[in-house]
Amino acid sequence: MEFEPMIPTSSTGDKTSFAYETARKRWPIIITQAIDDVYRTTGQTDDAAKREEGKKIVNDLATLKYEVQHNRALPPIPDDGVSDVATYNQILESLGKPTWLNVSWLFSECYLYRRISTFFKLSNHWKNYDIFARQKIKTFRSSRPAVLELAARYKDLITQLRAHSTEPVSEEADKLLFTEMCEICLWGNATDLSLLTSLSYEDIQKLQGSEARKKSEANILVNDLEAVYTQLKEAKKAGKKERVVDIVLDNAGFELYVDLILAGYLLTAGLATRVTLHAKSIPWFVSDVLPNDFGALLNALAAPVPFFETATEEEELQGKVPEKLSDKEKEELAFLFQEWSMLHAEGTLGLRANRFWTGPGSFWRLVDPNAGEQTKELAEDLRTSELVVFKGDLNYRKLVGDGEWDPTTPFTEAIGPLGPGSGINILALRTCKADVVVGLRKGLDEELRAKEGGGGDSGSRKWAWNARNQDKRFSSLIFNTRC
Ligand code: F6P
Ligand code: MG
Repeated sequence: MEFEPMIPTSSTGDKTSFAYETARKRWPIIITQAIDDVYRTTGQTDDAAKREEGKKIVNDLATLKYEVQHNRALPPIPDDGVSDVATYNQILESLGKPTWLNVSWLFSECYLYRRISTFFKLSNHWKNYDIFARQKIKTFRSSRPAVLELAARYKDLITQLRAHSTEPVSEEADKLLFTEMCEICLWGNATDLSLLTSLSYEDIQKLQGSEARKKSEANILVNDLEAVYTQLKEAKKAGKKERVVDIVLDNAGFELYVDLILAGYLLTAGLATRVTLHAKSIPWFVSDVLPNDFGALLNALAAPVPFFETATEEEELQGKVPEKLSDKEKEELAFLFQEWSMLHAEGTLGLRANRFWTGPGSFWRLVDPNAGEQTKELAEDLRTSELVVFKGDLNYRKLVGDGEWDPTTPFTEAIGPLGPGSGINILALRTCKADVVVGLRKGLDEELRAKEGGGGDSGSRKWAWNARNQDKRFSSLIFNTRC
């Protein structure tokens, strides 16, 4: 069984790719931000031993940045006691002696975050430190207008669903609601911090909100939601008692918030009896959800006044006073908090982390018969699920192995051993932030390349690089049915 596509995969050495730009421009910025963060925390601690270790970590990060920028070889990951080190190092060995600026993009980028995690894991005082936590929660706060808008809509929706739970609702209306919920969840992926290195808060807010959503519908390139709806509806009609939907999370903050909206809706509408959220175990691609981010979001909703109304340092410097929340807004946020914390407490909304999600390379290893016990158990669990929703760009790249697929390749083929026969029902909700795309109708890639900024005949698929660009954020909603 192969665990990477048998075709070329995206490389940081390919001048026409987003991988090329990422390795040379974005990674150094991301590492610099990590250095700033550790530096700041080090300066705030009174514990001398922790301070000393903090300085060492800053030094390790600076060395890593140097290695990347000077195209040094990737050394093996040091043993930090976690079982995935062996897999990382085996793959690294199989790649020869790759250097940062000419290596498989997917492998090296996972390696980058995994390597950073060793600096912390091998310390005594920083083991569970999240270098991106500050950025994540700050961006959630700046999503305030969209958070409030959705809180109001969610409360109305859940109240109505409960009121009408015994009356038959038209199939059409039901399907429409399902579609909208999934689309909200999809577009929540357009704001991820690793792409927002030069974006202002005003820009972040423009990416959210209902107007933006309606306009964006035309930008969905592959939409299989009807088949997904049928799948969930049929299982319900068949009277299956236990119907689980798994969501492999991507980013914290606003994206996690919309994931919870989708989860709450599926449970209330009876389209699932349990939802399991899958988080990462180490700081990952800047904004990905760690278990603590879930707690941080619930805390913000539980105490919205200090969260939204206390001025940040920047606001204080600019003399800005955050607007007060109205009583209605406070009530709507409290409703969300009560709903989600209750679902979580009673176990219908679960949260789990598994090291598999931060492994190297493609997700095809999920069905490796020689995988470790934890991965095997995970795969078995996902097989019993009605639907596994993979959020975001990186999860999509890992599903399709970041291969240089012809864009008309069917999704079911591009996901290799995860396709039909794997026993797993996969839905990918992804806004494009990388080169790889599959499942397009013939000619569409060419049409998009021909549009302004789409890449033209440069050989670059530029239209797919940047989901933050309001007019050019294209996405896929792709579904693979098990059979
Ligand atoms: O930097 C690599 C990358 O996977 C990009 O393709 C994408 O911009 C980002 O990281 C992560 O995106 P997401 O949070 O949607 O997975
Ligand atoms: Mg992410």
